[in-house]
Amino acid sequence: MNTTTVPTTLSEQQLIAGLPAGFRWGVATSAYQIEGAIDVDGRTPSIWDTFCRVPGAIDNGDTGDIACEHYTRMPADVALIKDLGLDTYRFSVSWTRIQPHGTGPVNPAGLAFYDRLVDELLAQGIDPWVTLYHWDLPQELEDAGGWPVRDTAYRFADYSMLVFDALSDRVDTWTTLNEPWCSAMLGYAYGAHAPGRQEFPAAVSAVHHLLLGHGLATERMREAAPRKLDIGITLNAATAYPASDAEPDLEAARRADGMGARLYLDPLVHGRYPADVIDDLAAQGIEIPVQEGDLASISTPIDVLGINYYFSQKFTGFDENGRTTDDDGLPISRTLPLNKPRTAMDWEIVPEGFTDLLVRISKDYPGLPMVVTENGSAFQDVPDENDYVADADRTAYFTSHLAAVARAINEGADIRGYLAWSLLDNFEWAYGYDKRFGIVRVDYESQARTPKQSALYLKELAEQHRNL
Ligand code: FCB
Repeated sequence: MNTTTVPTTLSEQQLIAGLPAGFRWGVATSAYQIEGAIDVDGRTPSIWDTFCRVPGAIDNGDTGDIACEHYTRMPADVALIKDLGLDTYRFSVSWTRIQPHGTGPVNPAGLAFYDRLVDELLAQGIDPWVTLYHWDLPQELEDAGGWPVRDTAYRFADYSMLVFDALSDRVDTWTTLNEPWCSAMLGYAYGAHAPGRQEFPAAVSAVHHLLLGHGLATERMREAAPRKLDIGITLNAATAYPASDAEPDLEAARRADGMGARLYLDPLVHGRYPADVIDDLAAQGIEIPVQEGDLASISTPIDVLGINYYFSQKFTGFDENGRTTDDDGLPISRTLPLNKPRTAMDWEIVPEGFTDLLVRISKDYPGLPMVVTENGSAFQDVPDENDYVADADRTAYFTSHLAAVARAINEGADIRGYLAWSLLDNFEWAYGYDKRFGIVRVDYESQARTPKQSALYLKELAEQHRNL
């Protein structure tokens, strides 16, 4: 397509209609958020089981103990995806079902669930997309130090191979990690996610060991691959807008982009950590614990980069009093509102930040096909007497963000598909069940599933595209 002739005035509908043939349409979930059945078939606690028991850690004291009962309702949930006409289902594997001690041999009873899930998906003509790690580290490995400890990277690669050996005869697309930023920063720096630690230097070590685990696993999977497979990683990223052209604002945006995006993309794609981030960390007395050969493993080629996008932010380097450094002499970084409407997560709705992000990644890290592995929104859903939710707000979010993806493609970004977050309302981590991201409503009392307006909308779009 000659992209330079695409007028910028296309409506969102026209943009979406212009998404390429062969574009993937799907949905995503993760194990702990939907499965429940936390103590059956040999599964042991992950850091999330433990964290959910910390008083005050999760809104309303919610846990993933029952969640959406997907472990027992799996065939019906797969049928639901089929009914919605979606071609791809991205799910994650629970490490402690496969390897209850985080090390050692495979647990056949736990593996059997994913074996059945893959067969069920294939039988329904749905492409299975496996995420190996969506935040549920075995508690035993956290007790041994967790991601800040180098050994965890090797444990992850071993675990990955157990899953890969069992499923790679049928699964073509593999993601090592979901959003390592969240694992490292929310888990070890801010304490908002499991394991709830607040140790910034440990979080920086966790970043490196997560990336190393990705690299080691990718190298081993590639080596063992029975045929050409797509192996990659999923990052959460955003556009960091400076509040003005003033130097402190530009610097605050640079730091946010460095810690949020380039700290992951540069080693993965270019085989080096960004010099400015290394300097910023050094100014705080922190060093990334790189050993010889690590960056070669981390930058082992990948076939697909998964991007999860929810919102973007504006940054300033000034505090309320106009100062640019804090009492410790460290530079100020603050976010300021972009003055956009917000979702129930209080996240601003910034579809243009999505286009800017995708175009920018395609320019700075060329040659890497991308798939949107998550995008979606939580709103205060109001069901009618049939439990149907006419979620015009979520539907509009999908429209504006799919149009944003189409714009990015028109500007040259190589984006191969879009997976909505999420199939079901589910356990939204520290927010518990209060925040609903599903395109299908879950009544947690009865476990009844009811597709929302947004699900029917995505169904229609996927269908139109299949008929291109
Ligand atoms: C992402 C997570 C996913 C879900 C959405 C809302 O960061 O990958 O599990 O919680 O946010």
